[in-house]
Amino acid sequence: MTATVSQELLDWYSAHARALPWRAPPGAPAPDPYRVWLSEVMLQQTTTSAVAPYFAKFVETWPNVHALAAAPEEEVMAAWAGLGYYSRARNLVKAARAIATMGDFPRTEGELRKLPGLGAYTAAAIAAIAFGERAVVVDANVERVVARLFAIEEPLPGSRGLIREKADSITPDESAGDFAQAMMDLGATICTARDAKCLLCPLSASCAGRATGDPVRLPKKVAKKAKAKRTGTAFWIERDGRVWLVKRPGKGMLGGMRALPDDGWSAKQDGDEEAPLTGAWRAGGVVRHSFTHFDLELGVAIYAGETEPQGAGEWWDVADIEAAGLPTLFAKAAQLVQA
Ligand code: ADE
Repeated sequence: MTATVSQELLDWYSAHARALPWRAPPGAPAPDPYRVWLSEVMLQQTTTSAVAPYFAKFVETWPNVHALAAAPEEEVMAAWAGLGYYSRARNLVKAARAIATMGDFPRTEGELRKLPGLGAYTAAAIAAIAFGERAVVVDANVERVVARLFAIEEPLPGSRGLIREKADSITPDESAGDFAQAMMDLGATICTARDAKCLLCPLSASCAGRATGDPVRLPKKVAKKAKAKRTGTAFWIERDGRVWLVKRPGKGMLGGMRALPDDGWSAKQDGDEEAPLTGAWRAGGVVRHSFTHFDLELGVAIYAGETEPQGAGEWWDVADIEAAGLPTLFAKAAQLVQA
């Protein structure tokens, strides 16, 4: 079935590829590696519709890897604000500088893998899409399509090795980039997590999952632990129309981002109690935000005293708070106070 599957998928892709700003149309010469790299990093854990405006802003501000390498890290972090998983932005700058020092992008999966922040998926995707290498590209969409196509009953994550083997077995020698993106599009539009539109699927005749009668139950997943809950407090200190902002330490959660000062919730243990607000502080409400490993309830404490804030930070015009590039959690807190 191998050759049939890859050819049928490529034929389907010729007619149905999604037009995305970082893509070359099916069969066309490969797109600029810079655009492929930038989009693949942005697309990790993030939808194409969330990425599109950020991608446009980045390529306009920094049209090539040398421009990005020369940018101050703070500016890149601020431009990334709202997209989440901020270590991606820090690694993006590091990788841009490494590539600029090398002169140009490395062209193989193995060499790409050595760049900061480039995992197995991203290195394979860039090698296939930008350089035409026959790399095996497996993201969550591809995992789902392959698990159904081969009716793999073993649950994730244990089945990852087998899924990769099967993905390898259907990857063609030519057009590996189109093939990878065709698998992603099939997973995003036809063989989705909630639905399997088998009547529209180019692979339905070869699909062992369909033959079982219920492909949507695949891939099975080992039950996840319930997400931990944490609480914390952010501090809103405002004076003469300006609010006190700090820069978070480079390592750790939301590292390197501008932020409201807080009580260190990101380093606290689950179950630690919040201290009650006293003195010149009053409660300004609560914002909720979900991170990968825990859900956070962040109380916002508003300062009504006179004492100057301690430590490093800057006064920022409240009217211009959007330009501060706050991560979504703190942007929500700022909106709450201003509402
Ligand atoms: N998700 C990650 N990379 C993608 C790509 N190149 N096309 C569509 N969806 C993607």
